[in-house]
Amino acid sequence: MAADTGLDVVTGAFGYSGSAIAARLVRAGRRVRTITGHPERAPEDTPIEGRRLAFEDPAGLAESLEGATTLYNTYWVRFEHGGATFDRAVSNSRALFGAAGRAGVQRIVHVSITHPSADSPFGYFRGKALAERALADSGVPHAVVRPAILFGGDGVLINNIAWLLRHLPVFAVGGSGSYRVRPIHVDDLARLCTDLGAATGDVVVDAVGPERPAFVEMVEQIRAAVGSRARIVRVPGPLLEAAAAGLGLAMRDVLLTVDEYRAMARGLADTDGPATGTTRLSRWVTEHADLLGRRYANELGRHFRRTAQ
Ligand SMILES: NC(=O)c1ccc[n+]([C@@H]2O[C@H](COP(=O)([O-])OP(=O)(O)OC[C@H]3O[C@@H](n4cnc5c(N)ncnc54)[C@H](OP(=O)(O)O)[C@@H]3O)[C@@H](O)[C@H]2O)c1
Repeated sequence: MAADTGLDVVTGAFGYSGSAIAARLVRAGRRVRTITGHPERAPEDTPIEGRRLAFEDPAGLAESLEGATTLYNTYWVRFEHGGATFDRAVSNSRALFGAAGRAGVQRIVHVSITHPSADSPFGYFRGKALAERALADSGVPHAVVRPAILFGGDGVLINNIAWLLRHLPVFAVGGSGSYRVRPIHVDDLARLCTDLGAATGDVVVDAVGPERPAFVEMVEQIRAAVGSRARIVRVPGPLLEAAAAGLGLAMRDVLLTVDEYRAMARGLADTDGPATGTTRLSRWVTEHADLLGRRYANELGRHFRRTAQ
């Protein structure tokens, strides 16, 4: 086995889950390099070395990975927008894993999604299955970590549910709202990733928290915590999809894609397996109620506009 170089590479360490993973590694005394589309977002005095993520430059990609023991990969696109398609995300992931192999990276910890499937009707889940296949094809020892929904830190989904509950008189839930979700705290995901970075062998683990509320119960918990008086109404799926699209236009964002809603309604954000995270969403929501949803978190702003948000 090759020696530990003391250096790890994390994609998106100035972003959401990547920053939580990088912070754990730095606390553990490791050197961290990030490859990111936004190296200019490096906080002042960060110990993290930033390199630009350029998938079209295989040699540069391998150079950015040289000397790393482990690659922690969070790269993906939440929805298709402009040239950022799921097909492109799959080929970019393949390029990244290939470069890691050429650079001599010893292990890859890859963040995926619960229930990826090459036969899925949903491009996100199909693409994730193909990315996992590309990882296996790379021949680099690896761990696949599959979360359903993340919360904590700068997370978008739970924060924006709280924002909507604070600002609108009515909150629409699609269908019965009885479909379950299995959120994990971003720091629990980061711990799982670094634990698996230090392990050996190829493994696949669901990254899921200890609670499994029905979607509507989760909205009710957030409503109570932030003191919202919004009415929660159940509406047919197509109406929810249209409302989410309309609100997205108003917010210059993508609030919830049709695929995200339909996948959740089919139970793809739920799993039967044991909890791998310990933080309870219901308790976390109560403890963070003061700040939760005070500011809208704009996903398009984070990834497609020039100004950092
Ligand atoms: N957030 C969730 O609730 C959730 C739920 C299930 C699974 N996951 C999975 O967890 C992983 C990390 O998610 P995250 O929410 O932590 O993501 P993130 O920080 O927003 O982004 C992760 C990485 O992907 C890059 N990226 C994101 N959108 C991009 C785009 N449109 N074009 C180019 N690069 C893009 C980011 O680039 P920059 O470095 O330039 O920002 C960053 O390197 C992903 O694989 C995601 O599928 C997330």
